[in-house]
Amino acid sequence: MKILVVGSGGREHTLAWKFAQSDLVDEVLAAPGNVGIVGEPKCRCVALSADDAAGLKKMALGEKIDLTVVGPEAPLVAGLTDTFRDARLRVFGPSAKAAQLEGSKVFTKRLMKKYRIPSAEFEVFDDFAAASDYLSTIRDRVVVKADGLAAGKGVFVCCNRDEAMQGLTAIMKDRVFGDAGNTVVIEECLEGEEASFIAFTDGREVIPLASSQDHKPIFDNDQGPNTGGMGAYSPAPVVTPELHELIVRDVMIPTIAALEAEGAPYLGFLYAGLMIKDGRPKVLEFNARMGDPEAQPLLFRMKSDAVPLILAALDGKLAGMSIEWDPEDAVCVVMASGGYPGSYEKGKPISGIEAAEALGNVKVFHAGTGRNDSNLVTAGGRVLGVTAKALGIGAAIDRAYEACAKIHWENAHYRKDIGKKALNR
Ligand code: AMP
Ligand code: GLY
Repeated sequence: MKILVVGSGGREHTLAWKFAQSDLVDEVLAAPGNVGIVGEPKCRCVALSADDAAGLKKMALGEKIDLTVVGPEAPLVAGLTDTFRDARLRVFGPSAKAAQLEGSKVFTKRLMKKYRIPSAEFEVFDDFAAASDYLSTIRDRVVVKADGLAAGKGVFVCCNRDEAMQGLTAIMKDRVFGDAGNTVVIEECLEGEEASFIAFTDGREVIPLASSQDHKPIFDNDQGPNTGGMGAYSPAPVVTPELHELIVRDVMIPTIAALEAEGAPYLGFLYAGLMIKDGRPKVLEFNARMGDPEAQPLLFRMKSDAVPLILAALDGKLAGMSIEWDPEDAVCVVMASGGYPGSYEKGKPISGIEAAEALGNVKVFHAGTGRNDSNLVTAGGRVLGVTAKALGIGAAIDRAYEACAKIHWENAHYRKDIGKKALNR
């Protein structure tokens, strides 16, 4: 069969790499894909943007694509899977209606409240004056969130009222996220340790992947502004086997049941961003897709073929399926352009990827790379996901950093503490 992966980041390189290993798959197309995907066996990139729904549909029909997997949130929220389904193309990913779970924080907060899915207390405002009046009454730390998609940057975790007012002003007055900030959620600030919980779902059954943990802030010890994610590891020991069961029972199953009850059945990867405290999960956010960079360590240590799981989900037959995992831990360190998540330079020549992979049990996934003549160069904020596995989290961390040390470009930046929380447990 022929699979199409929509998107161009590290997650999409990882998905394409994983699908290409399936005996069921003859060819993987990626749109637009990236330089890393071009270099994979069985893979080919097509120069179509992830938001070009009409172009993607035409190409998928012309290429006789058997299955499409959509990587990023924006095309899901914009309804790419609806366009594909209308054209009788098989696609793994939620409808626009179900993708509101990521596309609108107000929708999701109200859904969680109605169906008693554990989450932070909140208020919703579509008026700046009312929101700032409310902020003048609060004493505790709060989180101010733009309702719509903001590339992971629409959330302000505020230590005091001044910070909260600054966040609110940025969203509603300065409109830095445009219409995504027409409405805000102001919510209780939760304490604890974060974990990512991702599952395959057909809207009735949930087949969870292993647990993982992201590292959102740019600097070590979770300092500095949030990014798309600076590294991840799997499994995350904060998610004990008991907690795993609890998350499935109290978060994942109730959420897909709630969406079905609301007339928006969910098909695709469902990602719950959780705060764990005293062995109990609360939902920080849902994503309507695989995580990035969580995909890198997760799929690197997933032994089962992912394609039969996706096909079973499309047929509504996930029940009874399971996933086999490599007993080794996997760690992904994201190497970024100096300056990211602010402004940064592109076009810096990259060296050392082959030497890094020659260490064994190392895979370097591309996120923001390009070609300048025959040279591999930087072309984005997050450039590479250097992913390693080994028995024990300490050994996996050491191997990932040994690999990073072999890779060079001018002004490369990466965190030195990926996986430390797992090691400290
Ligand atoms: P979100 O896009 O909602 O996941 O928010 C991005 C990040 O902000 C999360 O990964 C958390 O680190 C943080 N965050 C979001 N909501 C809360 C909350 N209610 N309490 C504490 N931190 C939060
Ligand atoms: N790593 C966080 C995300 O994919 O949104």
